[in-house]
Order: sequence, then C-alpha cells, then structure tokens
Amino acid sequence: MVMVSSVVRLLLMVQLLLAMAATDEALDTRYYAATCPDAEAIVRNAMERLHYTDPTLAPALIRLLFHDCFVRGCDASVLIVPTPRYSSDRAAVPNHTLRGFGAVDAVKRALEAAYPAAVSCADALALMARDAVALLGGNRYDVALGRRDGTQSNPWEVDLPAPFARLDDVLAYFAARGFSAEETVVLFGAHTVGGAHCSSFRYRLTRPDGAMDETLRCDMLDTCGAAELPLDTDPATFFDPDTPFTVDNNYYAQLMSNRTLLQVDQEAATHPDTAPHVAYYAASPDAFMQRFSEAMAKLSNVGGLEGDAGEVRKVCSRYNN
Ligand code: HEM
Repeated sequence: MVMVSSVVRLLLMVQLLLAMAATDEALDTRYYAATCPDAEAIVRNAMERLHYTDPTLAPALIRLLFHDCFVRGCDASVLIVPTPRYSSDRAAVPNHTLRGFGAVDAVKRALEAAYPAAVSCADALALMARDAVALLGGNRYDVALGRRDGTQSNPWEVDLPAPFARLDDVLAYFAARGFSAEETVVLFGAHTVGGAHCSSFRYRLTRPDGAMDETLRCDMLDTCGAAELPLDTDPATFFDPDTPFTVDNNYYAQLMSNRTLLQVDQEAATHPDTAPHVAYYAASPDAFMQRFSEAMAKLSNVGGLEGDAGEVRKVCSRYNN
C-alpha cells in the first residue's frame, strides 16, 4: 500500500515537472489580445468591487491560487464542486476552509458576458490573485496567460502540507515544485494577510510547544477556547492583527518574536535553511515586497495545461460535460 502511494506520488511529480517545463514557454501576457482584449480590465474592475464589499476575499483568493497551483498545477482543479457522482480537490481536508469560490464564479460570469468561452478559469484565478495582492498594497506583477482548465480533480491527489508539518518536509515539497528555501520563506509571507481558524493551531494552546509567546497563547485561548468545536462554529482570527489586509513584512517580525499561529511558520524562524531569510525580510520591507510579487508570479506559472489540453470551462465550479 505504502509502495503504491509512493509510485503514485512519483508519477504525479514527474507529470507536474513536465507540465512546469512546458508552461513556462507557452504562457504569454498578450494571450487574449485578439479573443478577449479587456480580460484584465474586467477582472480588475470586478475585483475592486468585490474587495470593497468584503476585504477578507483578497487573502482567500491568494490562498486559493496556492492550493490550485501546487496540486496538478494551475488548472483550476480546486474550483470543481464535488457531486454525489464524482468527488474533487475541494473534498480534501486541506481545502475545507478555502473561501472565495463565489467570487471566482462572479468574475467568470463577467468574462463570459463579454467574451463567451474565451478566458479559462485558471487564468481568471491567476489574475484575481494578482489583483488581490495589489489591492492589499502589494506590488503589481505581470501574469502570463493561456492556462487551460483541467478535466480532473481528485481529493486523493491533494497532498498540501498540514500546519503541523515538519519544515524539512515542507522545504522538500516546495523544492519539488521549483521553489528554493528563500522563495518558500517569501511565499510563507502571504500569512501576513487573512487569518486561520482555531482548529489549525488550537493544539499549540492546550499543549504548549514552547515556541509560542505566552501572551499570544493566553490571548488565543480566550479567542479559541480549549475545546474542539465543529468547523461551522470554529472561530477564526487574523495572522497579523495590526494590518490583516496589508501585504507587508510584519509576518517576519512576528516569527522572530514567537508570535505566529501556525507551527510550520514558527519553525521557519529557527531552521538553519530559513532563519537567515526570515531575519533578512524582517529587516527589509522593500525587498520583501519585490520578492513576494516575483514569487507570486512564479507560483501562478506552476504546471497546468496549455494548447488543446483540458478545456475552457463555462462555469468554473463544474466541467463542461
Ligand atoms: C506549508 C505551507 C502552508 C501551510 C501549512 C499553510 C496553512 C494555512 C492554514 C492552516 C491557514 C488557515 C486556514 C483556516 O483555518 O481558515 C492558511 C491561511 C492562509 N494561507 Fe497558508 N499555508 C501554507 C502556505 C501558504 C502559501 C504558500 C500561501 C500563498 C502564497 C498561503 C496563503 C494563505 C493565506 C492568504 C491565508 C489566509 C486565508 C484567509 O484569510 O481566508 N499559504 N494557511
């Protein structure tokens, strides 16, 4: 059984690496110049409206892109709704707290109204995440376009790290997708926006690991309580309570003072491969802003489908047929 799952993982990794190599060459910032010249403007206008109605959406969309791109590449597989007939990525545990699906559907409707069947959901999500970063005060970056939407989405392929994963394993996992330890630390910086449900870190409150600031631990016990609650009553709290809707380097200062919620993030402050990067970005706000946008652009290019592969979904939450 262990052997079979190792072989499946190996095959998936080879598939991902092959797709990565292919995608880098084929994507193009002017991909929709003829078929949907306003695509970027349509997405930006919709994102601005959504952001002013609900500022918590932008962090959710950045996370959605990560969960899409690191599983089968950026192919919008994370958007498929599970049905009684077939399951999908969304049924996997790491995806239970994902949000923003309604926003993607709304943006896709706006794109379909202007240019039917032109823009893929994978491209729409990549553009939405880029705009989310910019709306949260991050640097704007170019997004190469031309991704196609996948026709497979399987919960058993979702191997995203847990919040209690060991950092050694997480660094290997990111490296398998082409990200160095430095880039991994930079992407972790996304945890400067948005927040987490108590279920992701409550065990650190009741069984102290010695790596969480005692004042934060007591505050979080007040917020979360000591007992597990069902997901729908599971409180959520901001990663960076001072500026939860601003992309900035506060996250690294929090790491260095043991004031972060997730165990895996905290380990980055002391692991020999990541600690120097954490210290550097804590002291270098401009460098972080630049590298964060570069890392997000790279994240948007992981794997995926192009050319005639896959399809352009009409509705992002379901396959065309
Ligand atoms: C080892 C890697 C990672 C782990 C274990 C992890 C885990 C988590 C967890 C547990 C949450 C809270 C979910 C909840 O309880 O609602 C979260 C939130 C978030 N994550 Fe990560 N994450 C990782 C990497 C990343 C990366 C690479 C990005 C983006 C580049 C990212 C972006 C976010 C954002 C923006 C949120 C806030 C979402 C919201 O407010 O809805 N994460 N992450």
